[in-house]
Amino acid sequence: MPESAVQVGIVGMGTVGAGVARVLVESADRMASRAGRPVVLKRAVVRDLERDRGVTLPAGILTDDVAAIINDPEIELAIHLVGGLEPARQIMVDLLKSGKDVVTANKALLCEHGPELFGLARELGRTIAFEAAVAGGIPIIATMATCLTANQILSITAILNGTSNFILSQMDREGWSYADALKKAQELGFAEADPTFDVDGTDAAQKLVLLTQLGFGMRVPLETFPRSGINRLELADLRCADMFDCVVKLLATAKLAGGKLELHVQPTLVPKTSPLASIHGSFNAIRVVGDVVGETWYSGQGAGQSPTASAVLADLIDSVIGRTRLTFYRLAPWQDTARLPLQSEDDAEARFYLRLHVEDRPNVLAEICDALGRNSISIASVIQEEAAEPEETGGTSDSTRSEETPVVPLVIMTHKTTVGRIRAAEARFAELGSVRPGHCRMPVADL
Ligand SMILES: NC(=O)c1ccc[n+]([C@@H]2O[C@H](COP(=O)([O-])OP(=O)(O)OC[C@H]3O[C@@H](n4cnc5c(N)ncnc54)[C@H](OP(=O)(O)O)[C@@H]3O)[C@@H](O)[C@H]2O)c1
Repeated sequence: MPESAVQVGIVGMGTVGAGVARVLVESADRMASRAGRPVVLKRAVVRDLERDRGVTLPAGILTDDVAAIINDPEIELAIHLVGGLEPARQIMVDLLKSGKDVVTANKALLCEHGPELFGLARELGRTIAFEAAVAGGIPIIATMATCLTANQILSITAILNGTSNFILSQMDREGWSYADALKKAQELGFAEADPTFDVDGTDAAQKLVLLTQLGFGMRVPLETFPRSGINRLELADLRCADMFDCVVKLLATAKLAGGKLELHVQPTLVPKTSPLASIHGSFNAIRVVGDVVGETWYSGQGAGQSPTASAVLADLIDSVIGRTRLTFYRLAPWQDTARLPLQSEDDAEARFYLRLHVEDRPNVLAEICDALGRNSISIASVIQEEAAEPEETGGTSDSTRSEETPVVPLVIMTHKTTVGRIRAAEARFAELGSVRPGHCRMPVADL
């Protein structure tokens, strides 16, 4: 072992860990030249020693005992690639307490326990680097933490979940159903075996919490802002979006609005002229607007073995050369540096897309326009599909005819209004016998 080598341990050799180990073993010279010292993988921890990791490691490296890293004082740096909250949290605490700097990709852990873990690292004089925790291979954490620090960030608008974006792309471009697209995402390894957090907006919201911390200097707990996912969208909504020259994307947004912070994750209509509309498949994209820099864009592979390993390894090199320490202590991710009030969801402004299921009979459109008008919502356009002509049945009574009133989709695009006004109109729709329950509402992101 060369005297000046830095010895590292990996906890978790799944998708990302195996990618990191491969580069450490196969590109050792490059890593040494970038880090200024040889970087030697000393231990890698898994649960199942028999499973093929797709990478050949020198004998004696693989172990199922995390203490082999924690209790080894020669290991200076730990790469933490265990998902979930526990035992991931305890493992990170033990690694920090044993005097190691940590690199992690676990956004769920930092979102939930960030203050505790960052605080502990500071107390112990250690660092936690987390480039891979947001948007995989896109260097957005370093960008926000270093390159944009002269700015007051005005907005962050992002596609942060590759699984949702893949599903939406397949539905939109190939006409697949949601279920078929999700199945394919799982086959291709984009989606987790349990994809709930991918498709219900939770994963994107966890990443938004971290970006908000960096961009606006405040930690906003996950449960304090609205989030919804793509799991209730229908193919019809993507088709209708197309009629308005838009595509549907799962957007995570944090922006300053009237001195307050507006935060949400939700399916959103994006005009086809926006760069976000051209982000397909498992790619991610982030638009950051700062008061000095103006509009900036970042895109690339948001997940996957190699892109995520690229981010982990960059953090590893930064930790070895001391760059993480500089950023970590100046950035102060363990405390709020600004405390802006959160904007109430009702006050969020946008144009809105509404797809209602309505009875196809006279006066229904007037009732709906009235409900919108009473709430000062102005309609930009309306699309109503024609119902199929009823077949001749001969001698149908009035009461039966009412039960058979056909139901058709009615799609409305509003002018700019607020969520609060839309909700008030929706409450009125619920009282109208002519509007069936279960409609779709999405804002339009005009960017
Ligand atoms: N996959 C991606 O594209 C991606 C992208 C960005 C961020 N991330 C994040 O990176 C982290 C790792 O993701 P992944 O996809 O690599 O996960 P993964 O494939 O499930 O791998 C997790 C690894 O952790 C090991 N492990 C689990 N519990 C352990 C324990 N108690 N002690 C020791 N080892 C344990 C597992 O061992 P066994 O293999 O023996 O079960 C496995 O090797 C997660 O936080 C994830 O959110 C992943």
